[in-house]
Amino acid sequence: MIADEARRHFAAAFGGEPALVASAAGRVNLIGEHVDYSGGEALPIAIQRRTAVAVRLRAGAKVTQINSGGTGGVLTIDHARLARRGKWTDYPSGVLDQLVGAGIDVPGLEVAVASDIPSGSGLSSSAALEVAFDFAVRSVLHVPLDEVSLALECQRAERQFVGVPCGAMDQMAAACGRRGHALHMNFGPLSVSTVPFTEQVLVVDTAVPRSLRASAYTERVQECAVALAAVRHLAPDVPHLAAATREQIDAAVMPEVSRLRARHVAAECQRVRDTAAALAAGERFPGHLALASHRSLRDDYDCSSRELDWVVEQAMRTPGITGARLTGAGWGGCAVVFGDAAALAALEESLPGAYAKEIGHRPRAWIVTADDGARVE
Ligand code: GLA
Repeated sequence: MIADEARRHFAAAFGGEPALVASAAGRVNLIGEHVDYSGGEALPIAIQRRTAVAVRLRAGAKVTQINSGGTGGVLTIDHARLARRGKWTDYPSGVLDQLVGAGIDVPGLEVAVASDIPSGSGLSSSAALEVAFDFAVRSVLHVPLDEVSLALECQRAERQFVGVPCGAMDQMAAACGRRGHALHMNFGPLSVSTVPFTEQVLVVDTAVPRSLRASAYTERVQECAVALAAVRHLAPDVPHLAAATREQIDAAVMPEVSRLRARHVAAECQRVRDTAAALAAGERFPGHLALASHRSLRDDYDCSSRELDWVVEQAMRTPGITGARLTGAGWGGCAVVFGDAAALAALEESLPGAYAKEIGHRPRAWIVTADDGARVE
């Protein structure tokens, strides 16, 4: 178990036992992509891949000594001199920055991290690290926070400290996940409810370097801001882009790319509502809505890739597969595939080889189900 691995890293780095271990989950978004920062709706699940953080207070200077196993050694984060360094410790540093900013006197800490969420794959390893670290530190200091507030604190860490203008979906899924359930999230105003979801899904990581992702993501956020400003010229009371109707989007004066982005947001939120209603009624995941989501992300939001399109098309040729789409930010990263368990298992077996033949390298593929979010182990 990943919590045991964090304990082993802890013993090797610092000796003895941590005071506690907390963990948080990676996530797969079933549907509702690129809508969270526009006040829309999404339907992610937390998955079995997790990040665990072992922590113990240490006497002396107010620094966090942190180790992630392997050859990385023990790194020191000075609470009085928190600075972005362009490496993985930016995530815990960003959380410490929030805690210090909230007036919490954070003493010296010894921390060990272990994770089986592949980093850079689009399964939100960074959100899981933020949430697990925040949860562990708040627990050991006895300053608890409810899981939604904790997720929002971690989102602020990512936005303000790491510098990514992300929505709250990833941190919310990492914190609030429920086994056997998808999370129906509404980002404007914020609410989360659960809908039963016990199906397996197949996640395929295209394993393509995503160097353009951060800048393209920021560009989309800006394009949506332009669309919202244009809609507000006509309808000043529209609170966020996801609340704009298709008629308002079509009538407003804005650059064509912003209009395409806004159309995606409106249509995608409707697909989320339809999917949540189907699941709540006990139906299987509506695969055709996943496919429609993918096409909208490919054509209107322009965030797919050749590899993701190929995976979706190939999946749809397999009997028993009902739908597939890119999941997460896109521009590489992962696709999620829906269908009956036997079809998913067959595809998990056959797809990597076919992909390698077509694309030139092997993808990673896992079957996952909905699991719990943050917890003390
Ligand atoms: C990334 C961001 C999320 C969300 C998705 C796209 O994962 O961190 O907030 O915007 O992209 O849906």
